[in-house]
Amino acid sequence: MSQEHYYITTPIYYVNARPHLGHTYTTIACDTMARYQRLRKRKVFFLTGTDEHGDKIAEAAEKEGKTAAEYATEISQAFQNAWATLNITHDRFIRTTDSDHKKTVQSVLQKIYDNGDIYLDQYEGKYCTGCERYLTDKELTEDGLCPDHQRPPKIIKEENYFFRMQKYFDRWLQMIHDKPDLIRPARYRNEVISTIEALKEIGEDLSISRPKTRLEWGIELPFDTKYVTYVWFDALLNYITGIGYNQSESFDQYWAHSHHMIAKDILKPHGIYWPTMLLAAGLPVYDSLLVHGYWLGWGDLKMSKSLGNAADPESLSANVGEDALRYFLMREMNFGSDSKFTEELVYRRINNDLANDLGNMTQRTLSMIKKYYQGKIDPVVEPHDLEKQVNDILIETSERYHSSFENFEFHKALEAAFEIIRPLNQMVEEYQPWKKAKENAPDLQSFLQSILKGILAGALYLKPVLVNKVDYLFSIVQAEYETAFVTSLDQIKLKDHTLDQWDILFPRYEPDKT
Ligand code: MSP
Repeated sequence: MSQEHYYITTPIYYVNARPHLGHTYTTIACDTMARYQRLRKRKVFFLTGTDEHGDKIAEAAEKEGKTAAEYATEISQAFQNAWATLNITHDRFIRTTDSDHKKTVQSVLQKIYDNGDIYLDQYEGKYCTGCERYLTDKELTEDGLCPDHQRPPKIIKEENYFFRMQKYFDRWLQMIHDKPDLIRPARYRNEVISTIEALKEIGEDLSISRPKTRLEWGIELPFDTKYVTYVWFDALLNYITGIGYNQSESFDQYWAHSHHMIAKDILKPHGIYWPTMLLAAGLPVYDSLLVHGYWLGWGDLKMSKSLGNAADPESLSANVGEDALRYFLMREMNFGSDSKFTEELVYRRINNDLANDLGNMTQRTLSMIKKYYQGKIDPVVEPHDLEKQVNDILIETSERYHSSFENFEFHKALEAAFEIIRPLNQMVEEYQPWKKAKENAPDLQSFLQSILKGILAGALYLKPVLVNKVDYLFSIVQAEYETAFVTSLDQIKLKDHTLDQWDILFPRYEPDKT
């Protein structure tokens, strides 16, 4: 059987701000999914990168007294460094200034132009540079501000090229209706449907150019060199450049299994502009669009650079460790809804789940093996009866785990993994090994080793998130596993090994003392 392809993308981030926790969340969520799919033996391509053209970047560079190109390179590098620190396993980091991307943009523009779907027209509208798009009156707050950037849009009147987006609305709506999980969670699918209905009423198409007299930092239109490409039209095409549009033989296979993850701020470009662009270019639309909510910082407002309430992922990870930060982000947010961020919430989540449930359980078990058996792990010892019970739990939870993962419900998948680990704690409390040791109970060693296997089995389900600590745990114990997600404890093989020293997996945090 040929391996199934799996293509996942993050948004490409604007280079006007350094990476903050919001960008980090999406990138870690995609990385978690990419790792999960690799463990499921799929052929994964994971793309992330930076969005470097447009008004916003040109303005930010000017403020810093740099050229747009210099400035973009500097911040793009900051994103690449952050992702390296956080163990992100992307297959390509794309920049919209890459030469193959310029080729994609110009060839798609030419194709759509030749088909008659691009025309020149006069337009006046309210433009938010923060969003890099025109906003409708309905989208503005009562005071006429952009809700995400809390500032008034600029009135812009100019002659531009337009893409006949309207022409593709009915086909796209039909596709959304035919495939209910194309845009997930459902509330965002509904939002896309109602926005399209509203746009149909207004009859508006998409402006896809900017006159060079106003903005030079962009990709020139192939059919009119007085203009550069509108930044969203340019940026969205990164998703096909990234896997070798017009260049690579595997393009179609990856594209047929493409998944875009975004936050709700950029639903309109992804839910409306992008699919209509694809249809006009004669390409299939993406397989799915996954939309999450906002991390809310100070004031319960969307965490962002412009509001100054964004947390710094690198210092957080230096403080609590990469695995713990990843775990917090994936477990705390209910994918699709907004989530509050405070350091206290980080500490609480890490203490409860990682330090107490997983860490403490591991520590106790290893310590008892050390104390009662001088650290010796003996593979010949018969499995304890408790393994039957654990195997039942494994079968039941693994089903839920996989369906949650496939549905991008990371928090539910992680909760399922802990439903393997927590009952082990209960079994230890009931069995009371410290008492059994005094009584020289004949099944004590078998009990401890089977509990250890249970911990290892549960830990495997955390591997897409705890990307260092699970391997570390296996290295302390020197155990092996037959399959990535075990559903029976005999798939875990203990080896003849004597435990030496080991580090505590997850320390507890005392917020007041840090
Ligand atoms: N450049 C465009 C995207 C082009 S994709 C073809 C852009 N860039 S951005 O730098 O503003 O990044 C927006 C994305 O960053 C969000 O969609 C989300 O993935 C992430 N987040 C930024 N702030 C966030 C929060 N406060 N909370 C959650 N995610 C956030 O838009």
